Amino acid sequence: MRVAIVEGDGIGKEVIPVAVEVLDALDLPIEKVPLELGYGKWEKCGVAIDENDLEILKSCDCVLFGAITTPPDPNYKSVLLTIRKELDMYANIRPIKPLPGLIGVTGKNDFDFVIVRENTEGMYSSIEEIHDDVAYTKRVVSRKGSERIARSACKLAKERKNELTIVHKSNVLKSDTLFLGVCREVAASEGVEYGDMLVDAMAYSLMSYPEMYDVVVTTNLFGDILSDMSAALVGSLGLVPSANIGDKYAFFEPVHGSAPDIAGKGIANPIAAILSMKMMLEWMGYEREAVLVESAVEFSIRENLTTPDLGGSSSTSDVGKVIADHVRNNL
Ligand code: NAI
Ligand code: MG
Repeated sequence: MRVAIVEGDGIGKEVIPVAVEVLDALDLPIEKVPLELGYGKWEKCGVAIDENDLEILKSCDCVLFGAITTPPDPNYKSVLLTIRKELDMYANIRPIKPLPGLIGVTGKNDFDFVIVRENTEGMYSSIEEIHDDVAYTKRVVSRKGSERIARSACKLAKERKNELTIVHKSNVLKSDTLFLGVCREVAASEGVEYGDMLVDAMAYSLMSYPEMYDVVVTTNLFGDILSDMSAALVGSLGLVPSANIGDKYAFFEPVHGSAPDIAGKGIANPIAAILSMKMMLEWMGYEREAVLVESAVEFSIRENLTTPDLGGSSSTSDVGKVIADHVRNNL
C-alpha cells in the first residue's frame, strides 16, 4: 500500500505527524509519500495543488490528509473539492460515536450513528457565477450520484442495525425530490429499513435524540453542516474522523479545519487525525490494528491525558506519545 501523507496547513502540520507516529508504531508494510498542498504552497507557487500533485495522488492507494486553510482569493478553487472530484471519492463517511468517559453538549453518550454524505455534487457542484449584485450556485443532484451514495449507505446499514434515515429538503428543493426518491428505491431494493427527515427537523432531532439514528444519508452541504454540529455531541471537533471513499481511491481526514486560532501552540487534539488513520487501517483490511488504535485512544482518555478542548492540559505530542506507546506495548 502507498499512502500520500498531506499535512496541509495550520494544525494539520501538528496532528498528522502524530497520526503517522501511531501508524509507524504498528510497523506495517505501508509506503508513505509526503506531499505539500494547500495555502503554504499557494503562497510560494501561486497554486494550492497542481497536475503533478494529482498524478502523485493517483499513484497512491489512498491519502491521509490534515486540513487546508482557504486562501483569501475569490478565484481560489478548493483543493479538497478538486481531489474529491478528480479521484471520484463520492462517499464521505463520518462516524459520530462518543469515546468512553466523554460527553458532549447533550450529556448523552448512548448513541452511535454514521453520517454518509454525498461528496461530488449537490451545492458543491462548482457551477457558479458571481457578479456585482447577484451570485448563483447551481445545486446538482443526479440519479447516478444519488444511487451510488444510497448504495454505500445501505451497505454500511447492513453491517450495523439495518436502519437508514434519508435527510433532505424536498418540500422546497426539486433536486431533493429526486434524491429522496432514488434513496427510497435503493433502500427498498436492498432490504434496508428506511425513513426520512427534513434537514431542519433532523438538526433538532440529532441534538435531542441522537440515540435514535443508525445510518444517515444526505446531500453534500447538509452532510457537511450536520457532521460539524454532531461533533458537539461527542465533545470536540478534535475527535471526529472521516473517510472519503470511491470505487478506486480513498482519502482519510479529520472533520476539523486548520484551526488558525490554535495553530502553532501545540494544543490541537490529535485524536480526530488518529481515528481517521484508524479508518484507513480498516479500509486496508488491518482490522486488528484498527481495534488496537481505538483502544489506545480510549486508554489516553481513561488516563486523563487530554488536550485543552477536552478540559485537559496535555499537548498534542504528549497525547500522541501515550497513544503510540500503548500501541507498541500491545502489538
Ligand atoms: P476549524 O475546524 O479549523 O476550527 C473551528 C474551531 O474548532 C476553532 O475554534 C478551532 O480551534 C477548534 N478546533 C478545530 N480542530 C481542533 C482540534 N483538533 N483540537 C482542538 N480544537 C480544534 O474551522 P474554521 O475555523 O472555520 O476554519 C479554519 C480554516 O480551515 C479555514 O481556512 C477553513 O476554510 C479551513 N477548513 C478546512 C477544512 C479541511 O481542509 N478539511 C475543513 C474545515 C475548514
Ligand atoms: Mg466541514
